[in-house]
Amino acid sequence: MASNSYMKVVLSFFIFSFVISLSFAQSSNFTLPLKSVNLGNWLVTEGWMKPSRFDGIPNKDLLDGTKVQLMSTKLQKYLCAENGGGTIVVANRSSASAWETFRLWRINETFFNFRVNNKQFFGRFSQGQGNRIVAASTTAGYAQTFEIVRNSDDPNRVRLKASNGLFIQAVSDTSLTADYGGSSWDDSDPSVFKLQIVGTLQGEYQITNGYGPDKAPQIMRDHWNSYITDDDFKFLSSNGVNAVRVPVGWWIAKDPSPPKPFVGGSSQALDNAFIWAQKYGMKVIIDLHAAQGSQNGNDHSGARDGFQEWGDSYIPDTVSVIDYLAARYAKSSSLVAIALLNEPLAPGVTLDSLKNYYQQGYSAVRKYTQNAYVIFSNRLGPADSKELLSFASSLSRTVIDVHYYNLFSDSFKNLNVQQNIDYINNQRASALSAVATSNGPLSYVGEWTCEWNVNGASKEDYQRFGKAQLDVYGRATFGWGYWAYKCAQNHWSLKWMIENGYITLV
Ligand SMILES: *[C@@H]1O[C@H](CO)[C@@H](O)[C@H](O)[C@H]1NC(C)=O
Ligand SMILES: *[C@@H]1O[C@H](CO)[C@@H](O)[C@H](O)[C@H]1NC(C)=O
Ligand SMILES: *[C@@H]1O[C@H](CO)[C@@H](O)[C@H](O)[C@H]1NC(C)=O
Repeated sequence: MASNSYMKVVLSFFIFSFVISLSFAQSSNFTLPLKSVNLGNWLVTEGWMKPSRFDGIPNKDLLDGTKVQLMSTKLQKYLCAENGGGTIVVANRSSASAWETFRLWRINETFFNFRVNNKQFFGRFSQGQGNRIVAASTTAGYAQTFEIVRNSDDPNRVRLKASNGLFIQAVSDTSLTADYGGSSWDDSDPSVFKLQIVGTLQGEYQITNGYGPDKAPQIMRDHWNSYITDDDFKFLSSNGVNAVRVPVGWWIAKDPSPPKPFVGGSSQALDNAFIWAQKYGMKVIIDLHAAQGSQNGNDHSGARDGFQEWGDSYIPDTVSVIDYLAARYAKSSSLVAIALLNEPLAPGVTLDSLKNYYQQGYSAVRKYTQNAYVIFSNRLGPADSKELLSFASSLSRTVIDVHYYNLFSDSFKNLNVQQNIDYINNQRASALSAVATSNGPLSYVGEWTCEWNVNGASKEDYQRFGKAQLDVYGRATFGWGYWAYKCAQNHWSLKWMIENGYITLV
């Protein structure tokens, strides 16, 4: 027995040393630039990448942040929060834009708050006002909560039941009150409204709050455990991909009990990514994709309703998320970089706030590691792509992250195959060389893809487009990252592109 356990100790010592030397061999073997892929829609939900994940949500078209417009069928006029909010709500507009658009906050599958353009909520104002509807409260409570009652034949015919049990009615075009007891669905009924959905969000907030506290935890954990597995790292490493960029949300730092509706357990999933990366000799870039307050208003920033509110007041909390991630993963030889904030959007995120945050986030990483690179994402929107260069040059082991899509702008709308490829070889090549200075930070094309606005392109067209991008983005000194690994839309999926011979890296 004794000698047997002695042997076990000796044996485990040898296995241990072997593992250690292997991990040193791997880390010393590691060279830039990286060929990476984004594990998008894994730990930060993006509904468009796999819409079926939302299928089990009741009233799944009425999620947080859904933008709705309401037209009185009797008056044929839209509801409007006068001045965008802060005063009365009327029903006198013949067309609808920002003041006539309300963002839903979902309480449960049938109860909602309505947030107006200036961020107030509309609700009943009863003091001497006869339950008049006003958009004056900056918080949502009992008086701001309404049940959306949908017509069973036409779900876009609705009546809004207030917390006094009565319905909102458009008595006249300037008088909207919550005092109607009728129940007809006639056009002439003053409580019937046509609901038009003009915008949707499908991010982490929407899926977790949509399923609700009873169902969301199991659904999210099943997703984390099945969407990305050991096999995926095996597939990637054997196909020439040597790193993964893993988008995470701020709530991971509150694991295992993040504030509702977010669900605990995502840090366990990220731990697994490190285990698999280690096993297959790959590197991990942790990417804070969703900051509290939302740095860009997109669903992939974890936003509840699409308002972009990240700024100075959120910096301490955001730095503590970086601190959590750096503390937890700094010792892993697979950690190659931490990206402090994905796609901050100008002008809502100012350059001053961003540099202030980047400086503090950088220091948080350096508390735990001198080796990991710190990645600074350039701002999207109207911003100079070189605005971070001198700042980043003053710090060691930093990287500027740029995202290149021939999409999301009218200028790409009518480009044909060759024009798209020329754009890569000319404009993208020079944009990239502008951020690749000799003594400054490294450069990373952290997101790109082979999707474009060309209709009916052939496989060969896609292959040429992919090859052009690999050639040009291959000049980025830190590397590139395909968006994404898995996606319901094939050309956005590096897995599909490799399996079908559209992209070859080895
Ligand atoms: C080091 O890199 C070489 C060439 O890319 C590769 O063949 C080898 O397997 C790598 N070794 C380790 C330990 O990863
Ligand atoms: C709608 O009603 C409000 C309140 O009476 C008024 O100030 C506004 O001018 C009206 N707008 C239109 C387009 O009639
Ligand atoms: C939904 O929320 C409302 C308002 O808080 C509550 O009265 C109602 O019971 C809830 N319904 C369900 C099904 O939880």
